[in-house]
Amino acid sequence: MENLLNTQVKSIELSGIRRFFNMVSDEKDIISLTIGQPDFVTPTHIKEATIQALHTNKTTYTNNAGIPELRKAISNFYEKKYNVHYNPDNEIIVTAGASQAIDIVFRTILNPGDEVILPSPIYPGYEPLITLAGAIPVYVDTTQADFKLTKNSLSNAITERTKCVVLPYPSNPTGASFTKDELRNLVDVLKQKNIFILADEIYSELVYDDTHTSIASFQQVKDRTIVVNGLSKSHSMTGFRIGYTLAPNWLTKHLLKVHQYNVSCASSISQYAALEALTNGVNDPERMKETYRVRRDFVYNRLMDMGLSVNKPNGAFYLFPRFPDTTLNSFELGVDLVKKGKVAIVPGGSFTYLGEGYMRLSYAYDMKTLEEGIIRIERYLYEHF
Ligand SMILES: Cc1ncc(COP(=O)(O)O)c(C=O)c1O
Repeated sequence: MENLLNTQVKSIELSGIRRFFNMVSDEKDIISLTIGQPDFVTPTHIKEATIQALHTNKTTYTNNAGIPELRKAISNFYEKKYNVHYNPDNEIIVTAGASQAIDIVFRTILNPGDEVILPSPIYPGYEPLITLAGAIPVYVDTTQADFKLTKNSLSNAITERTKCVVLPYPSNPTGASFTKDELRNLVDVLKQKNIFILADEIYSELVYDDTHTSIASFQQVKDRTIVVNGLSKSHSMTGFRIGYTLAPNWLTKHLLKVHQYNVSCASSISQYAALEALTNGVNDPERMKETYRVRRDFVYNRLMDMGLSVNKPNGAFYLFPRFPDTTLNSFELGVDLVKKGKVAIVPGGSFTYLGEGYMRLSYAYDMKTLEEGIIRIERYLYEHF
């Protein structure tokens, strides 16, 4: 019977991160620096708002696009922070995490044969959805450009079949983020083309040395931009599953059809939690960010001291060092590190072939765990290279 399944579904694989975990799941006494979710508990006032929503029976379907109060709060958030206006009535959809937002965007805009530009190494959540739509992922090598798409690399990747470019900044796995000027360079190229921009801004609240610029703040491309964001990383709410799309009305009305037939609406009580986060908790990420910054500096300095080549990331909570040359690919190296070094970090090959040679470390862990993890990496390198 398996041969009767959808051919595209058969062709996609489990994510590299999942395959790596399956390879090492039996190992004991491991320090893990793998996880992509904040280690902070969800702020208490948000948890209380969730309980309150339950007690007041906010447990029914909501408007397909999300409760109006939350859409208004999202609109205010972008207005205040980025000076970008989205109409809460018809330009915002609340989704089940950023993941579902990405899914409805691709299913709304892609036809078979369309090309989607992916600056790589890149988060593995886009490619399978592009393939499922019968479209073609086009990887752009950013390893020689501080992991950023540039005017040249973007221009060179565009063909007459390009339908969309994904701008996933700040980046998982590299932590790279754009300055306003760097974004402007891309806008110069994109404003002349009929290409959608999917701006995944899920790490927008975790930018360390300057502030995040949303590409939607460039009026020249706002009409073709779909911003995806959510509460998972900013407010440590990964399990609440709340994300959202911001897009012009003409596009949102099509996104909403796909969303409606997909999930009807995001979880009602989670929407009330998100409403609290974006009204009384807008500054919650600041506190977490200061802790991440200290950790980032610590891990970065230690990796540099080990002689590893690594960019100092300006966003998210990952570092992406290059490992010394070896005959092992990044998955084999990851397994070897677990077995011999008793420390788990994510193989760079999980983020497309352009991540080979690199490994991703998450610093969403307390200092004690980070210190021990780093000692183990250092020892492994000393003993095996
Ligand atoms: C770049 C990026 N986009 C989207 C997501 C998915 O976010 P959510 O948990 O809100 O679905 C992640 C999660 O790790 C991510 O790293």
